[in-house]
Amino acid sequence: MNRDQIAIVQDTWQQVLPIAEVAADLFYDRLFELDPDVKDLFAQTDMSAQKAKLLATLASTIAGLNTSATLLRDLEELGRRHAAYGVRPAHYELIGEALLWTLERGLADRWSHEAAEAWAAAYALIAGQMQKGAKASQQSNVRRAM
Ligand code: HEM
Repeated sequence: MNRDQIAIVQDTWQQVLPIAEVAADLFYDRLFELDPDVKDLFAQTDMSAQKAKLLATLASTIAGLNTSATLLRDLEELGRRHAAYGVRPAHYELIGEALLWTLERGLADRWSHEAAEAWAAAYALIAGQMQKGAKASQQSNVRRAM
C-alpha cells in the first residue's frame, strides 16, 4: 500500500465509525447471504460480541497501517487462530467482498474508485498476512503429526 492509499483508508474509516454498528450488521448479513454455509462457523458465537471484536481489530489494524511494528505479526497470529476456527482460504475472498460491499454502501457518495482500490489493497494486506499465519500453523500441525 502506498501512503495515499493508507490515508484514504484511514479517512474513510473515520467516516464509517459513526455508523459502525449498522455497518457491522450489514457486513454479516451480506456475508451470510453470499454463502449461507459460513453461518455454521458462527453457530456458537455471540454475534454482538463478535461484531465488536471485528470492529476493534479493524480499527487497530487500520490505525497501525503506517505506524505499528507489530501489526504484521498480530495479523499472522489472528490468521493462525482463524485456521483453528475452521476458516479456509475461500472464506477470505467472501469476507473481502462483503467488506467492500458494506463500505461502499456505508460511505455512499464518499465512496470512490480510489477508495475502492485503497480498501482492496488494505484487505489484501490483512488477508494475506492472516493466511500466512494460517499456513504456518497447518505446516506445524503436519510436522507434529509426522
Ligand atoms: C479482515 C479479516 C478478519 C478479521 C479482522 C477478523 C477478526 C476476528 C476477531 C478479532 C475474532 C475474535 C477471536 C480472535 O481474536 O481470534 C474473530 C473470530 C472469528 N472469525 Fe474472524 N476475522 C477476519 C476474517 C474472518 C474470516 C475470513 C472468517 C470466515 C468466514 C472469519 C470467521 C471467524 C470465526 C468463525 C470466529 C470465531 C467466532 C467465535 O469465537 O465463536 N473471520 N475474527
